[in-house]
Amino acid sequence: MTSVKTVLVVGGAGYIGSHMVWLLGQKGVDVVTLDNFSSGYPDAILHGQFVHGDIGDSRILDKVFSEHPFDAVMHFASFIQVGESVQAPAKYYQNNFANTLNLLNAMRTYGVDKFIFSSTAAIFGEPDYSPIDEAHPKRPINPYGWSKLMVEQALADYDHAYGFKSVCLRYFNAAGAHPEALLGERHDPETHLIPLVLQAASGRRPHITVFGRDYDTPDGTCIRDYIHILDLAEAHWLALQHLQSGGESAAFNLGNGNGYSVENVIQAARRISGKIIPVQEGQRRAGDPARLVANADKIKQQLGWQPAYADLDTIVEHAWRWESKCMSVK
Ligand code: UFG
Repeated sequence: MTSVKTVLVVGGAGYIGSHMVWLLGQKGVDVVTLDNFSSGYPDAILHGQFVHGDIGDSRILDKVFSEHPFDAVMHFASFIQVGESVQAPAKYYQNNFANTLNLLNAMRTYGVDKFIFSSTAAIFGEPDYSPIDEAHPKRPINPYGWSKLMVEQALADYDHAYGFKSVCLRYFNAAGAHPEALLGERHDPETHLIPLVLQAASGRRPHITVFGRDYDTPDGTCIRDYIHILDLAEAHWLALQHLQSGGESAAFNLGNGNGYSVENVIQAARRISGKIIPVQEGQRRAGDPARLVANADKIKQQLGWQPAYADLDTIVEHAWRWESKCMSVK
């Protein structure tokens, strides 16, 4: 296998992208991060070079691709709020789909034909069964999920027509932080459960609101499959090596295969932080399935992926270290 030398990471200043850039640095890969800072932070880029720009801007893409001999592109730059996507579908189709096509077409122009794409469990919609494997029907129930599924379809067609190789990784719930708190989650606004619970623990928020206790689950709260951010980054590394060694295009569901309820997460956060976490009971949030758990057998079998931080307490502990660091530097 020829080794991977240079990778373009689009969205490398964001939560997932910044952990990926760090990991590529550890693996000895040269990285160029392209980010428009719509939700990322300059100080989250801990390795490689940086270009400020947007993948919707073809001049920026021309400049970046003409200056670097990329082996592959990893694409983390997308809008991720399901509710917002229902209110503002144009924003989601433009950025997550149209701008991604712009990126793919620039890759074709410059002869870069390996692509790792951040897809999502939201492509499956309301699950027919659990855990969800790759054969599960794909019926998104919001523009966010559609924008990602449309890219997956485009990638399949680009492979068929142009021999363009891609790996789609369908994340379940990315969570946790770098174990030494070098990096972590900094969404604004924050909508994700684990950082919100920990912000309630640290006093940054008055309470955590539980969105519904009347689901058909053992404790009535929704069940999700939380995957540690570095396990997720490692899966990208394996996907990159797969493509670099001539592997075929593929799509993988990416989670731990363990379901934890909202109540489980709050209990873990109390255990780890030792803090009182006030809870408020809320209504169900529109579009939340009761249970989303991955069957990740395919990526384990085909790429040899194994989570190193599979248990919820470790994920919450690393996120708590990050939250504590954020509080101490305020
Ligand atoms: N939740 C609460 N209170 C909160 C926030 C979340 O009870 O304040 C609950 C949600 O209802 C859900 C669970 O916690 O049951 C997890 O919610 P998150 O928002 O953390 O995660 P989601 O499962 O909704 O979202 C994940 C990804 C999104 C992606 C979505 C696609 O994190 O980026 O899956 O389905 F868009």
